This record gives sequence, C-alpha cells and structure tokens, in this order.
Amino acid sequence: MNRRHARPPQPGQLCSTDQGGHPPLRTWREWRAVVWVGAAVWMGWGSLGAVGQPADTIYEEARVPAYTLPDPLRFQDGRTVTTAREWSQQRRGEVLELFRDQVYGRSPGRPRGLRFEVREWDPGALGGKATRKQLTVWFTGRRDGPSMDLLVYVPNHRKGPAPVFLGLNFEGNHAVSKDPKIRLATSWVANNDKEGRIGNRATEASRGSEASRWAVERLVERGFALATVYYGDLEPDFAEGWKQGVRSVFPVDGRRRVVASKEPIRELAPDAWGAIGAWAWGLSRVMDYIETDSDLNAKQVAVMGHSRLGKTSLWAGAQDERFAIVISNNSGEGGAALARRRFGETTRRINTSFPHWFCGNFKAYNDREDAMPVDQHELIALAAPRPVYIASAEKDRWADPRGEFLAGKGAEPVYALFGFQGLSVADSPGLDQPVGDRIGYHYRTGEHDVLPYDWERYMDFADRHYGRKEAR
Ligand code: GCU
Repeated sequence: MNRRHARPPQPGQLCSTDQGGHPPLRTWREWRAVVWVGAAVWMGWGSLGAVGQPADTIYEEARVPAYTLPDPLRFQDGRTVTTAREWSQQRRGEVLELFRDQVYGRSPGRPRGLRFEVREWDPGALGGKATRKQLTVWFTGRRDGPSMDLLVYVPNHRKGPAPVFLGLNFEGNHAVSKDPKIRLATSWVANNDKEGRIGNRATEASRGSEASRWAVERLVERGFALATVYYGDLEPDFAEGWKQGVRSVFPVDGRRRVVASKEPIRELAPDAWGAIGAWAWGLSRVMDYIETDSDLNAKQVAVMGHSRLGKTSLWAGAQDERFAIVISNNSGEGGAALARRRFGETTRRINTSFPHWFCGNFKAYNDREDAMPVDQHELIALAAPRPVYIASAEKDRWADPRGEFLAGKGAEPVYALFGFQGLSVADSPGLDQPVGDRIGYHYRTGEHDVLPYDWERYMDFADRHYGRKEAR
C-alpha cells in the first residue's frame, strides 16, 4: 500500500525528485539573529490580538453605507461570462490576477531544490492511534537556507491514504498538542510569559498552548490526517518581519524557475507578495510534500485557517487548485468579509495595524473600498467549483459575520455556472445552524476562536463532499 515510504525513512534522509543545487545563503541565519532584537520592540505593539478597534467602528447595520459589488461574471472589458468553461479558462485568471496585483501581491512558485527531511517518525503516537511524522522542509535544499518544520499525524486505522486537514498554527507546532514528542519551534515567536514564550523563544512551558484550537484526537478518530506548520517559520508576523522570512530570499520577478536570491532582498515591489502571500506559499509547499507521501491523500486536502490564517487559507486555496476544500474560520477583513461593507474592521484599519499583510498596491484602497477592482466574494469564487466553507462567530463582530455570509452569497453565481448550489439559503441562518451545499456556512455561538464545534462541521462537510461512509 505504501509505495514510497514502505519503511519509515531514517531521520536525516532527504526526499525530493529535484536534484538541483544552490549557492549557500550564508547570510540567512546571521540576518535573522540581528533582526530579532528589532522584532521584540515591534511586538510590544501586540500583533496577536485585535489591534485598536477605533471608536467610530460601525457595528450597526443601519450605519453601513450603501455599496455595489463588482459582478464576478463580468469581464474587465464588459463582456459577460456565461459558461463554466469561460470562467475556468478566462475570467478566473483575470480575477486571480487582480487579487495578485492589487491585494495580496505576486508569489513565486515551487523553488527549485525543495527538499523534505524526515526528523522523526513514530507509529505509536496518541496512544497508538496515529503515526506522528515530523519533517523539515528546506526551501533551497540547503541546510543553511530557510526552512519550515512540518508536523503530521496520520490515523493508523484507515483503509487507504488519509484525507488531510492542513493549517498553519500561530504559536509553534508544539503548541497544537501536549504531545511531549513534538519538536519545539525554533524560529522567532511572540513573547507571552504566561504561555511560556520568553525572549522570543518557545520553551517547554508553551507546549499545548494552542491545543484547544486543534482537534487532533477527533480528527484522527474520524480518519483524517492533520498537517500543520508554524506560520512564523515562513515569516514572523510584524512589519519588518519579512526581512527574516521567505520574502527576503525568493524574488518575484516572474521568472519561471524559482531560485533563491544570493543576497537578501531589501526592497519589495508594490505588487510583490505580502505576509499573507508568504504564509499561503508555505501551504503550497506542504502540498508539494503531501504529494510525495502515500499515507496521505493528495486529492483530499482541506486547507483551513483561523483569522489572519483564514485569510491565508482562502488565498492559498484561490491560487493553488490542488486544495480540494478551502475553509475560512472567522477570517474577517481581507478574508471572507466583504471590504465594501464597512462593518467592523475596514481596509484603512487593517493596512494601518498590519501594513505587512497585503501588497503595497492595496494601500491605495484605504477609505476607497469602492474603487477596488474586486471584492472578497470573488476570492471565495476563486475556490469554485471546489467546496468552500465559511465560518463566523457571534461575538466576532470585528470580522463582520454578515459580511462573511454575504461574500458566500456573492460567489454563488460562479458555482451556479458549474451547476452547483452555493449556500442554498436566502439569508444568514440563526446561531449554530450549519447550512450550505457547495458553500458551507455557520454562525456559531461564542468568540473569535476555533472550537470543537467548528471542527465537527468541517469534518462533516469533508465527509459529505468526499462521499466518505462516515458522512452524516
Ligand atoms: C486582528 C485583525 C484581524 C485578524 C485578527 C487575527 O484582529 O484586525 O484582521 O483577523 O487580528 O488574526 O487574530
């Protein structure tokens, strides 16, 4: 059954089909060390919480200014899309290009020389229910170049390759579970004394700090694998963080072969990838790995993310059609929520608090959402015809739950081209009533968070769309 990994690879073994080599990035680690100090100052400003909700934030429907959404089925030259084929072959590319150019920036592709190094492999994880795999993904193939650590749990009781939920985590792989064997994150982490992140380093005390957000046991119990990476391995989350992340290494000048720059990149073009682009790029690199691991079903990978990482999963799913299902958990502004609907967070606010998330061109839309050539319903539509799930939470008004629902509504005409129902309800459902056909949606009781409730709905949705027996 297991062709490529009939026996667990030995720690240290590199697996790749690409044998290309690169000049060493000698400055990478040194650079990182220097910037840590500056980063600590920036992080005092607190990027993991909701930064500054201004007093004039709109939280009443009656105060939301009127707006008109761009028509996803209208080409830039005014023609109308009438068939699924026209969408897939022409209009989809046009919309994607607008998001690249004006919102998230352009990303490079798979780097030449990408390597996967197995660091640990244990078939007795979670009391024997799962196999835990820990890998390092070397982006340039060299150990002195940038990398990310990947943690995978695969259920041991399964009939074939396991469907996968893939998501980035906020605090390090070791934070998603108390499992003492998970390797501690080694890259920069935001300080939090209570959660054991000190001197911008993860400590033993930070194990499991994010465990409530990751239904590891339930996923395995229901036959799903989990793959996760710490988003800070790709880029630390503060304005200057890109100088120590993948954006400082890979140029985005449109060259076909992605080769690391010999010197750190010091300036970014206005249409170059933002941090969300960098994080999404990491998700595609995990997908590259999944395609090589026959314990995992590469045709059934659901990319999931919460909040800023929900914006990221939507952008990853939009660009990379290998993701079978795309899930946004409370992603809000710049994610599932319509930008033109000025409820909760606005474009100016997000560009001010998090100037590094989007590309330079996106700043032009501060207080000018109506001038955007796209809106977020079209980001959802870029997932079509694949199933997409949008989840909102009652107390997460900053993310505009209704704006998230309406983005799903706005994507429906694209799903209809493929003969699919979208949300299959006319208006937003009440609390804790999951709805939807090809576009799933729920509005859950509670806070901005990922709860077991959310995971159960995502697993139900995946079971249904994959036609798994477990489907309920
Ligand atoms: C802030 C930000 C949101 C973001 C959230 C998060 O609240 O304004 O846009 O989604 O942080 O990522 O937790």
